[in-house]
Amino acid sequence: PMARICITDAIPEAAVTTLRAAGHEVAVWDGDLPPGRSELLDLVAGADAVLTVLSDGVDEEFLDAAGPQLRIVANVAAGYNNIDLAACRARGVVVTNTPGVLFDATADIAFGLLLMVTRRLGEGERLIRAGRPWRYRTTFMLGHSIEGKTIGLIGAGQIGTAMARRCKAFGMTIAYADEHPMREPAAGELAATGMPLDELVAGCDVISLHCPLTEETRHILNAERIAAMRPGSYVINTARGACIDEEALAAALASGHLGGAGLDVYENEPQVHPALLGLENVVLLPHLGSATIETRTAMGDLAVENVLAVLAGRPAPSAV
Ligand code: GLV
Ligand code: GLV
Repeated sequence: PMARICITDAIPEAAVTTLRAAGHEVAVWDGDLPPGRSELLDLVAGADAVLTVLSDGVDEEFLDAAGPQLRIVANVAAGYNNIDLAACRARGVVVTNTPGVLFDATADIAFGLLLMVTRRLGEGERLIRAGRPWRYRTTFMLGHSIEGKTIGLIGAGQIGTAMARRCKAFGMTIAYADEHPMREPAAGELAATGMPLDELVAGCDVISLHCPLTEETRHILNAERIAAMRPGSYVINTARGACIDEEALAAALASGHLGGAGLDVYENEPQVHPALLGLENVVLLPHLGSATIETRTAMGDLAVENVLAVLAGRPAPSAV
């Protein structure tokens, strides 16, 4: 029978077409701004399936608003820190995410940030666009080479491993926090070394975050760990803003303790901590990790596969 499916943000059209072709009634939020909380709750009322994005808080209130017929929340993202898993489990609502389709795109952005910040690419661009004078000079705008340096990954899953492959290809040494070991054969191929988090943080030239946001990883890079980092080292974050204490990060960048930071995510998106905005040694991107046409299409398709499976009484391909 026909189900009611709600989509809280514009997703690639192909995904919507697939759902409609399967005979379902599909409501898509098409405002320029995301739905406000009450608009969101109205939208999902009576839904059998909801496709959500990471700005949608899925909690008891959301589940109440949707109603007892709700069977699946398909998050169109790898991360699912916006969803209260226990509340969904208690009501028998399946939660799915989109792993396996965005790790290369996100690692590209992490690696892009690494080159941008170490070679001062954002600064150089700003200088030219501001019409300031410059000339090729042996001492002009020198950055640091990444070749021969060590990158420390906090999180060595699919995205962290894809980042490690890029770094290895550019001559870097790979280390990772060993709470969650890197899988074989990648760890062997990359000669990656696992070590305790505090040792990693204190011993690398670059720290790059690739962990999910959980209670354990909230502010995992806190003031104390930032203070323990090597002088002149760099931070890259394409995971979640709340994994870093932004206040402490900004202070360490302003004081010159850290060489720079490349950030794609922020604790209070879309707000960026004002202390970061004025710093030249920070590269700021607007959460572009998975933002390619190919990847977003694959994410939409995977979310739709999950929805169709659950509505048909089959196991979801990527339940969390
Ligand atoms: C994006 O941040 C995602 O989790 O997919
Ligand atoms: C730089 O442009 C060089 O030729 O070394």
